[in-house]
Amino acid sequence: MDTMLNIALPKGRLGERVYDMFERAGFFCPAIKENSRKLIFENTAAKVRYFWVKPSDVAIYVERGAADIGVAGKDILLEYEPDIYELLDLKTGICRMAVAAPAGFRDDTARTLRVATKFANIAQNYYASVGRDIDIIHLNGSIEIAPILGLSDVIVDIVETGTTLKENHLEVIETIVPISARLVANKSSYKFKYTQIAALVREIALQLEEHT
Ligand code: PRP
Repeated sequence: MDTMLNIALPKGRLGERVYDMFERAGFFCPAIKENSRKLIFENTAAKVRYFWVKPSDVAIYVERGAADIGVAGKDILLEYEPDIYELLDLKTGICRMAVAAPAGFRDDTARTLRVATKFANIAQNYYASVGRDIDIIHLNGSIEIAPILGLSDVIVDIVETGTTLKENHLEVIETIVPISARLVANKSSYKFKYTQIAALVREIALQLEEHT
């Protein structure tokens, strides 16, 4: 079949690393490596079109079919629960979703816990699972300062190296879920472009095996 495979990649370091995996799998598009501010690149010979999008938007492009496949963090998939297929754990972009609080924090269960986060759904689900009453304070960034300023008691956020927490005198009190980058597919693309997508999945799975 002569169709192009549309691939949404998360802009940034993770996306570049993932592109290298796709390239090794045969889906190459060298122009993407040139330093430019272009966002769309295609290689008609290899039948691929890549585009750089904001990491948290990849799932939207894939769910609505603007992209056939893409790479999204498990955090985004858990938060927005898009109606797409999760095909592979790419074992990169590894971090965890955690609850953090100022050093020495003790939970007063007689009071509603104030939780600052960008990940309201993940936080709601987690606290519902442990039966704790909470009040979500939805922020868009710099979550770490919320407990320092008394805006919240704890935060739910991504922890990678732990440096951000440390520098703001916070510590992890609970890990909610491990996070990594996932290869995702639009449901109808998976049916209609199955040959291309299956070939890509097979090649990338092989690469991942070689590294373990
Ligand atoms: C995340 C998270 C923390 C930081 C943790 O932000 O919100 O601020 O990374 O990393 P560390 O444990 O290695 O210090 P990210 O860089 O993804 O960007 P954001 O601020 O846009 O969420």
